[in-house]
Amino acid sequence: MLGYYSKLSTEVYGVDKPVGSSFGDVEFYMERLDGVTGRILEPATGTGRMLVPLFEHNFVVDGFDSSKDMLKVCRKNCEQRGLQPNLFEADMETFDLNTEYEAIIIPAGTFLLLHERQASLKALKNFHRHLKPGGKLIVDLYLPTDSEVGHSTLRSWEIEGGGVITLETTINEIDHINQFSVAHNRYEKWRRGKLLDTELERFAMRWYGVEEFRTILENHGFRDIVISADYAYGKYPDSPKQSITFEAFAEK
Ligand SMILES: C[S@@+](CC[C@H](N)C(=O)[O-])C[C@H]1O[C@@H](n2cnc3c(N)ncnc32)[C@H](O)[C@@H]1O
Repeated sequence: MLGYYSKLSTEVYGVDKPVGSSFGDVEFYMERLDGVTGRILEPATGTGRMLVPLFEHNFVVDGFDSSKDMLKVCRKNCEQRGLQPNLFEADMETFDLNTEYEAIIIPAGTFLLLHERQASLKALKNFHRHLKPGGKLIVDLYLPTDSEVGHSTLRSWEIEGGGVITLETTINEIDHINQFSVAHNRYEKWRRGKLLDTELERFAMRWYGVEEFRTILENHGFRDIVISADYAYGKYPDSPKQSITFEAFAEK
């Protein structure tokens, strides 16, 4: 079985997108959460890139993730800052809590990692069930821009203590009918010319049309939907390269 947000993948995430680093999303989410005083949930919270700055700005955020490695780094990042959020292992599709949240946030295109339609709809129902009446959902989507099977990219990061991690991403499959692509991420960790560790990750991502996703939200009990491109509130997207944020309120 291939890895998924395992050790090297987690290490790269921490180096490439350290806690507090922002695509413009951290500031935007804080602005859109302004006035929320109750509990917020960040499913798939990863290393705490978003959770930590929110917590430091006095938002009460619970976080969960399906990856033990990501959660371990998140716990460490929180501990180092003297923060004690409620963090736990769970899956977006199946999590089941006794809390109704004031807001649920899913930044960084993470919702697209649920690449199968039924799984993603199940997760959306789950988010709705865990929101208070009138609670706010904020979710970021991206459109695919790499569109060729076999296309590869190579990136590398220098790591603490000397050494380098390389990542080769190759697109393996694009299913246009079911709207997802599958890439293989091959990680290699090198030090002084020696290969120390390697990991192969299967990375599947779904995509949605902008209006398709609005309709899906409406059909799952969400109202007052606002779409924002590249974190400009209410600006409708005009380029496939932009991030697309949906803000919606749970009707119950
Ligand atoms: C791109 S990272 C985003 C992390 C964080 N939300 C951020 O904005 O930096 C995606 C995270 O989603 C987690 N993940 C993927 N599928 C998941 C699922 N079905 N349930 C819970 N977590 C999941 C991964 O383990 C990873 O930590």
